[in-house]
Amino acid sequence: MESPIPFFFYSSLALSLFLPFSSSQIMQGFISLDCGGTESFTDEIGLEWTPDNKVNYGETSTISVANETRKQYTTLRHFPADSRKYCYTLDVVSRTRYLLRASFLYGNFDTNNFYPKFDISVGATHWSTIVISDANSIETRELIFLASSSTVSVCLSNATTGQPFISTLELRQFNGSIYFTQYEQQFYLSVSARINFGAESDAPIRYPDDPFDRIWESDSVKKANYLVDVAAGTEKISTNLPIFVNSEMPPMKVMQTAVVGTAGSLTYRLNLEGFPGNAWAVTYFAEIEDLRPNESRKFRLVLPGQAELSKAIVNIEENALGKYRLYEPGYTNLTLPFVLSFKFGKTSDSSKGPLVNAMEINKYLEKNEGSPDVAAISGVLSRYSSANWTQEGGDPCLPVPWSWVRCSSDPQPSIISISLSGKNLTGNIPSDITKLVGLVELWLDGNMLTGPIPDFTGCTDLKIIHLENNQFTGVLPDSLANLPSLRELYVQNNMLSGTVPSNLLSKDLVFNYSGNINLHRGSKIKSHMYIIIGSAVGASVLLLATVISCLVIHKGKRRYYEKDHIVSVPTQRPASWKSDDPAEAAHCFSLAEIESATNNFEKRIGSGGFGIVYYGKLKEGKEIAVKVLRNNSYQGKREFSNEVTLLSRIHHRNLVQLLGYCREEENSILVYEFMHNGTLKEHLYGSLENGRSINWIKRLEIAEDAAKGIEYLHTGCNPVVIHRDLKSSNILLDRQMKAKVSDFGLSKLAVDGVSHVSSIVRGTVGYLDPEYYISQQLTDKSDVYSFGVILLELISGQEAISNESFGLHCRNIVQWAKLHIECGDIQGIIDPLLGNKYDLQSMWKIAEKALMCVQPHGDMRPSISEVLKEIQDAISIEREAESLREGNSDEASRNSFHSSMNIGSMDLGRAESFLSIDESVAQPTAR
Ligand SMILES: *[C@@H]1O[C@H](CO)[C@@H](O)[C@H](O)[C@H]1NC(C)=O
Ligand SMILES: *[C@@H]1O[C@H](CO)[C@@H](O)[C@H](O)[C@H]1NC(C)=O
Ligand SMILES: *[C@@H]1O[C@H](CO)[C@@H](O)[C@H](O)[C@H]1NC(C)=O
Ligand SMILES: *[C@@H]1O[C@H](CO)[C@@H](O)[C@H](O)[C@H]1NC(C)=O
Ligand SMILES: *[C@@H]1O[C@H](CO)[C@@H](O)[C@H](O)[C@H]1NC(C)=O
Ligand SMILES: *[C@@H]1O[C@H](CO)[C@@H](O)[C@H](O)[C@H]1NC(C)=O
Repeated sequence: MESPIPFFFYSSLALSLFLPFSSSQIMQGFISLDCGGTESFTDEIGLEWTPDNKVNYGETSTISVANETRKQYTTLRHFPADSRKYCYTLDVVSRTRYLLRASFLYGNFDTNNFYPKFDISVGATHWSTIVISDANSIETRELIFLASSSTVSVCLSNATTGQPFISTLELRQFNGSIYFTQYEQQFYLSVSARINFGAESDAPIRYPDDPFDRIWESDSVKKANYLVDVAAGTEKISTNLPIFVNSEMPPMKVMQTAVVGTAGSLTYRLNLEGFPGNAWAVTYFAEIEDLRPNESRKFRLVLPGQAELSKAIVNIEENALGKYRLYEPGYTNLTLPFVLSFKFGKTSDSSKGPLVNAMEINKYLEKNEGSPDVAAISGVLSRYSSANWTQEGGDPCLPVPWSWVRCSSDPQPSIISISLSGKNLTGNIPSDITKLVGLVELWLDGNMLTGPIPDFTGCTDLKIIHLENNQFTGVLPDSLANLPSLRELYVQNNMLSGTVPSNLLSKDLVFNYSGNINLHRGSKIKSHMYIIIGSAVGASVLLLATVISCLVIHKGKRRYYEKDHIVSVPTQRPASWKSDDPAEAAHCFSLAEIESATNNFEKRIGSGGFGIVYYGKLKEGKEIAVKVLRNNSYQGKREFSNEVTLLSRIHHRNLVQLLGYCREEENSILVYEFMHNGTLKEHLYGSLENGRSINWIKRLEIAEDAAKGIEYLHTGCNPVVIHRDLKSSNILLDRQMKAKVSDFGLSKLAVDGVSHVSSIVRGTVGYLDPEYYISQQLTDKSDVYSFGVILLELISGQEAISNESFGLHCRNIVQWAKLHIECGDIQGIIDPLLGNKYDLQSMWKIAEKALMCVQPHGDMRPSISEVLKEIQDAISIEREAESLREGNSDEASRNSFHSSMNIGSMDLGRAESFLSIDESVAQPTAR
């Protein structure tokens, strides 16, 4: 059975389709593929789009997304969610630089709302992971590369969730030395930010204003964590006057707008996709304000932790040798963090604040050179170029191998197996196959190959050779016997002649040469039967070998793929969990003891998940919390024994300790350590809030404690324990305000080896993971969701669900906080009770992580350990900031800024890395 080969080939489409348009000079070197489209068209800005309908694989879909009318975004092509790769191969001119852009608009094409996640690669290099988190917004990736051959392949692979798909694929050829870097042979530039400051609208500037169709994004578009923390006094300015820019630089329209820090500084913070890493970063300045003779504009760049960069002073007019001219200082290799905060601050002797027109930040992405066998295998492909198995595209091995090869697992893998049985191959064996020096298995049986069997001496690892059922002629080469690893050699049913080399016959080998009428065994014995020497393989296998060789291949292959989709076998629970009896470890109290300790259930201190909680004091003076479970509740009883069993085994500083239980006269009672400071909920907005609001650092510490407790449940327990009902009323505070997680009543054991446990959905509205609610598949990520809600409560002091607090359009804290945080408006959700006693960076860190935690899909959420790490980072930021606040913060920060400025003004020369345009023209490396 032939399994379909889900790949396609795209080469030469570019040429053939673009010839008609070559009259339009400006479009030369542009390829704009409308994936899933059916016809060519010219869009409203004049780009010529062509459908990718030469593609044989995948399926097309039409989508409709509000606000998106561009035709190229109404279609897409999607591929099966399997372990293969799907490639587009585009023609390029070798040794030319290009911009490659791929975009993805999900638009719920599968009507499943199953947000896809998959990888995109360029050749053998992993380019990016595409994670769709909104059905209606476009994900875009851009890469600048120097073509090293006549084609470039872009492949989608590794479908982690949903189906891989693509909306557009664009190629833009550059000109001259633009984007030259000294690293370009080994590194691509992955575009992280290309910003047009002071933009007059949200619309980006691109073709035709930019002849290379780079997309200069407007700084006014609101995006989560992108260009936030904008300094007060930031104003847009613009001019209609022409600006001198050379042909490669930002389009004039980009340079005609800018922002000015009228209060002395410009500040921005943005997340840089793919960072930390090494960057190519350039800022573009042009003086577009008319300064009076007594006015000046001088400023410096300030990057946290990179004091030496602050030495250089920018004086645009002077550096650019005039007004309305471009000055473009930059760094060819700068290490940048994921969260980049930067500032331009005016010098003390400058009368005007800083100005910036545009900026580009690209990340160096190391190329993977791919399989060393590319050249040899291309030789094989070129022999059979019309066959569809040659058209899979991309690297033979990376990121996943072609369907008919297997590769070693080295960083630069070599081909170890070729399976081309029954592919109608004709002619001689391509000699390039003998150049695959890593080859271990070769399956060429069942073809129409002719000519002699070549010399495989170079392939010293060859173990298995299948050449049977072809039309090979000539003799069996002696050299086969010299292959040290050879174990199986099948050459039956060919037209070989001469005698079988005796050293082959004496080798420990499975060897079949029957069905070659003119091939004889030595001088004496004539044989038309195969000979088995060595008995490692049973004869019955050999008898069947010719008949089932294809089946063997396919079975082998299927097994291979199944390995990728690991089929989990539910493992048995450890014996210790099987017991239905309350654990021996928990102390058994008598009802009388409990009654005396609680003074006949006198003081009620709360009502928990499934019962009322009373205060108590044991004879020896120890304070306890007594939870009396509701009577006659089957569920309650089951949960009772569940909780007792569980809790008695789990000890952690941040988990409320179960001291014992009591089960008498229909009563099911749990005895816990008493937590003096009640629940987190009470402190945030309950009865304890008034006058004793907990400050931000304390809230962070509480979050840290709780996260540690949960982390222990998720990673320290075997089997894993999923809490299932995390909420602020289940986080209790002891006398020292240390937090502990309580109430494991709803916890269920996650069975080892299976990623989820299906059971009746339980939890608390507002904290309940929506994915769990819909799918009923419980995972540890459901706890992460609930914990995200708790983080939002800590930030805002708001209840998870409230009819009053969140305004008209929101039902809950998640929607409400998301709206604010994604617009960069974190202030709008910060608990007013915190006053201004918090550091914005630490607040942001928690807010961003909280949003990650409440992502709709579990696998997009971080693990609790990642969240814990972020909380700890935030705590150290906050502690530092707190000590500054205590010791007159304003003065401290002013001083440090001044001192760096003073160093700078003494050194009036430019720092080496800040280069002027003149130098960059002379030496393009220096851009
Ligand atoms: C590749 O070609 C073979 C033989 O012509 C055919 O059976 C198979 O369906 C083709 N695969 C695809 C995906 O077109
Ligand atoms: C986008 O669509 C929404 C409604 O779906 C509408 O309110 C909004 O004005 C639209 N925006 C643009 C830029 O078209
Ligand atoms: C596929 O993606 C998953 C999750 O993103 C990752 O863990 C895995 O390593 C990837 N596999 C390959 C072959 O890249
Ligand atoms: C390419 O460079 C030439 C000069 O080298 C210039 O005339 C031409 O306009 C450039 N093309 C583009 C698209 O900028
Ligand atoms: C950039 O600098 C770092 C450290 O100085 C170096 O390791 C790296 O190779 C350089 N180039 C690139 C492209 O990262
Ligand atoms: C091989 O060729 C024959 C005849 O040319 C054709 O009928 C058959 O479909 C081909 N098989 C494959 C797998 O291409």
